[in-house]
Amino acid sequence: MTSYVIDNIGLLVTHEVDRPERRDSALVVDDGRVVWVGPAGTAPVVDERIDAGGRCVIPGFVDSHSHLMFAGDRADEFEARMAGQPYAAGGIRRTVRLTRDASDEQLLNNARRLLAEMRAQGTTTVEIKSGYGLTVDDEVRAVRLASILTPEVTFLGAHVVPEGFTSERYVDLVVGEMLAACAPYSRWIDVFCETGAFTVDESRRILTAGIAVGLGARVHAGQLGESEGVRLAVELGAASVDHCTFLSEADIEALAGSQTVATLLPGVEFSTRQPWPDARRLLDAGATVALATDCNPGSSFTSSMPLCIALAVRDLGMTSYEAVRAATLGGAQALRRDDIGHLTPGAAADIVILDAPTYVHLAYRPGVPLIHRVLTPAR
Ligand code: NIG
Ligand code: FE
Repeated sequence: MTSYVIDNIGLLVTHEVDRPERRDSALVVDDGRVVWVGPAGTAPVVDERIDAGGRCVIPGFVDSHSHLMFAGDRADEFEARMAGQPYAAGGIRRTVRLTRDASDEQLLNNARRLLAEMRAQGTTTVEIKSGYGLTVDDEVRAVRLASILTPEVTFLGAHVVPEGFTSERYVDLVVGEMLAACAPYSRWIDVFCETGAFTVDESRRILTAGIAVGLGARVHAGQLGESEGVRLAVELGAASVDHCTFLSEADIEALAGSQTVATLLPGVEFSTRQPWPDARRLLDAGATVALATDCNPGSSFTSSMPLCIALAVRDLGMTSYEAVRAATLGGAQALRRDDIGHLTPGAAADIVILDAPTYVHLAYRPGVPLIHRVLTPAR
């Protein structure tokens, strides 16, 4: 089908600047792009007609933060946290052992299974990080396999310091041989800037080295406590700083005056019993906010953007529209993509038809499968 119209849309979210949503609409796709948006029943003639039956249509979700290249699970740690244990970065090393022992096929199958879950829940773009290899060969393998699945591949060799290394020697390896081998498969470089992982100075060194070879920067910071990592991300022009659970006033000001997106990952707070990040404070200050799953076997083993939206509305202080926007356009901005995350003419035709009259149902009916149909161009 080269061209089609979705007609009889009860509520269409395009994120157009002057008119982000419209009632009783139709949308035309030609050759994989949105080419026309207008009132229901008035679309130009096309090859095929899809009747939305009054349902709500939104852009496909852009999950800008995931760790899908791993093996095994850590359900026991989740159980322990629910019984009062705190989250610690050290659990990552358990997944590293299991990931190194897995075959390429096992890693790909696991990631494909999770991608299928994501798609069934309305996600049409996924960023995937390495970070459970932590040797040159294992990190290259992770970014190489991830690059089969998505163009949004992130080299996260600096996830934690592996057993048998001092921080200094490991950072030398990351910025040297490992970066050189991983960069050809990666678009982004990331670092876990946190107590138990990498210091601000180490993070600066790692990100600067990645930027020097042409990668874009993203940073994990502010997950377990306030951290200078947030301002480092802004200083280096990172596309995104992720977690932002703990932010100082200065962090918020810095984010608001920058192009760095604050990516909130409420699945983490749900699964670790940490305090909720304050999206309201960020939005009121003028910062750009994204929502993502952080799908990983340790801190947030959910593939569900609708769950993140429900938590954002219930506990992060976002309106339903702000949450949907953060899960679509915000994710696209966090990936510096202007072709996805919206449905204005020219956008990629990544479209979700909800089984609901309004996107408000994503939070109002938590845990209910509300994805009627996911449409994407053949890529
Ligand atoms: O984003 N925070 C660092 N990395 C992941 C957790 C990884 C793990 O616990 O396995 C995160 O939350
Ligand atoms: Fe993460």
